[in-house]
Amino acid sequence: MEVVISTTPDEAGKLAADAIEAFVRQRPEAVLGVATGSSPLIIYEELGRRVAQGSLSFAKARAFMLDEYVGLPADHPQRYLSVIRDEFVDKVDMDPAQVLGPDGSAADLLDACEAYERAMAEAGGVDLQILGIGTDGHIAFNEPGSSLASRTRIKTLTSQTRRDNARFFGGNVDAVPRHCLTQGIGTILQARHVVLVASGRRKAEAVHQLVEGSVSAMWPATALQLHPHVTVLLDTAAASRLQLASYYMETYQGKPSWQGF
Ligand code: F6R
Repeated sequence: MEVVISTTPDEAGKLAADAIEAFVRQRPEAVLGVATGSSPLIIYEELGRRVAQGSLSFAKARAFMLDEYVGLPADHPQRYLSVIRDEFVDKVDMDPAQVLGPDGSAADLLDACEAYERAMAEAGGVDLQILGIGTDGHIAFNEPGSSLASRTRIKTLTSQTRRDNARFFGGNVDAVPRHCLTQGIGTILQARHVVLVASGRRKAEAVHQLVEGSVSAMWPATALQLHPHVTVLLDTAAASRLQLASYYMETYQGKPSWQGF
């Protein structure tokens, strides 16, 4: 796991955009894994700028989402498929038809989960997965207690996550759905490269557990310690509880310039 501590969230976002750009240049038909939430917004804006400048293209790429609320109508602005279109797909030149998420409005949700796993496998799996992390250490919507081998399935959101996400629903926690479909931890671990971004002091404990805690279902993100290629991009506030922060900084500063993420 490589940990990079930047002074600001903007700087961390640019490094993530650099990693994505380098990969997409090398493999234009890349399969990306995209996250919603606040953390990746800086990355999406930066990628949008690079596409607008003509230096980068996602025209041949495709993307799979991490998760989706259950039961939001197709035209609901907080449906993750709509959110990812607004915040990422519309900013770059990716074909909207090439962006898939689990179908949270399917009549048969179990079937929708299986179909989603099949679609990812048929696409050859995710090359580069962008991740955020919840204050309780969730990745996608794998809340504490999730099986570390889990696949795409229905989950009940914790009240903390619903409170955290109420800001997207006009501050009304009751408007936040109780259930979601989410890629499992086992699904996420199959992505070939995971790039996790976190900023702010609220994330500091979850980040400490992710990087330095014991692997445990109580902090689902700790499962990423078992993955061979994870890049964790932090601002100083999110890194503020890391015990080995100075070692991570020394390692990054001494990294050869030819070695990317
Ligand atoms: C979103 C997702 C979540 C978020 C996490 C952090 O698709 O899967 O795990 O990444 O809740 O959210 P923010 O970035 O809003 O703090």
